[in-house]
Amino acid sequence: MKAAFFRQHGGPEALEYGDYPDPVVKPGEVLVDVHAASVNGADWRVVAGAYGPVSFFPYCPGRDFSGVVSALGDGVTDFQVGDEVFGVCDVGIEAAYAEKVAIKASLLARKPAGLSHVEAASLALIGLTALCAVEDTLKIQPGETILVQGGAGGVASFAIQVAKHTGCRVASTTSAGNVDYVRSLGTDQVIDYNQADFATVLSGFDAVFDTVGGDVGLRSYLVLKPGGRAAFIASGPKAPPTPRTDVTGLRPAVGRDRAHLDRISALVAAGAVRVPEITVFSLADAAQANAVSRGRHFRGKLVLKVR
Ligand SMILES: NC(=O)c1ccc[n+]([C@@H]2O[C@H](COP(=O)([O-])OP(=O)(O)OC[C@H]3O[C@@H](n4cnc5c(N)ncnc54)[C@H](OP(=O)(O)O)[C@@H]3O)[C@@H](O)[C@H]2O)c1
Repeated sequence: MKAAFFRQHGGPEALEYGDYPDPVVKPGEVLVDVHAASVNGADWRVVAGAYGPVSFFPYCPGRDFSGVVSALGDGVTDFQVGDEVFGVCDVGIEAAYAEKVAIKASLLARKPAGLSHVEAASLALIGLTALCAVEDTLKIQPGETILVQGGAGGVASFAIQVAKHTGCRVASTTSAGNVDYVRSLGTDQVIDYNQADFATVLSGFDAVFDTVGGDVGLRSYLVLKPGGRAAFIASGPKAPPTPRTDVTGLRPAVGRDRAHLDRISALVAAGAVRVPEITVFSLADAAQANAVSRGRHFRGKLVLKVR
């Protein structure tokens, strides 16, 4: 099969397109013909070796995808060949930048009705991450206020919409060119981070979801009211240290399972969440897509169209 992979760690240009061994389906797994694979901020870091060296070369990255079931491993009874599915690879097991992927059946769900494969692929990991953060970890409630940092990004785009659907008042940060986009997601108050300092403008918030990291993450604690809580996904494996004793910093555990994928589909079906703005690349252009991802100033999601 064709895939995008790297033979040694390096910049996005280390990704090459070519022939790669077909995956072998184990018991409990499903073989999926991948139609679209999502590009995530983690991917260029995997290529760079930022999480440590990968365990073998050549290595095919890619965490989430949408496609069609083409074979079933022993013991799989909940899917049939021909089913349209979307899914997120298990932690530490990747390889979605490819024409085929073998994946545990429990990490797959039916593709959301009415969405193309490109749209479904765009939602899997960002939706799962946003749900784990705002519903499972922050446990946002109707009437609460939440600041979602980095509103134009994929995870934040989804989180803003879930928070609005829950009945929260939502503020978000972005650059000038993305203000209208972030507003179109339902955000009540959008702050252009080049024009104003969110920590000066905002205060008394119940919750913060930070998807930006660094100093933005650290300073997010400042907008919370006493008893407030903040969740961080871009500051490493732990929440950054809080300078306050009256607020809580949390690092969501992003579990991968069918229940969260089904929740994404339900939110789409209810009209509560729409797909983010998507820029499509071919699988052969995975290196170019990862260079854009590394730049961190695009809107919505980057998706590889595989077939
Ligand atoms: N399992 C997990 O823990 C998990 C899963 C998924 C993602 N993540 C992490 O979550 C983070 C977000 O991922 P993502 O894919 O949604 O987006 P991303 O690709 O990391 O970020 C892109 C967005 O960040 C915005 N941005 C950059 N600097 C900003 C700033 N100073 N203030 C506000 N916005 C800023 C950009 O908007 P502008 O162009 O307007 O600046 C752009 O839209 C990444 O670090 C990713 O690795 C973690």
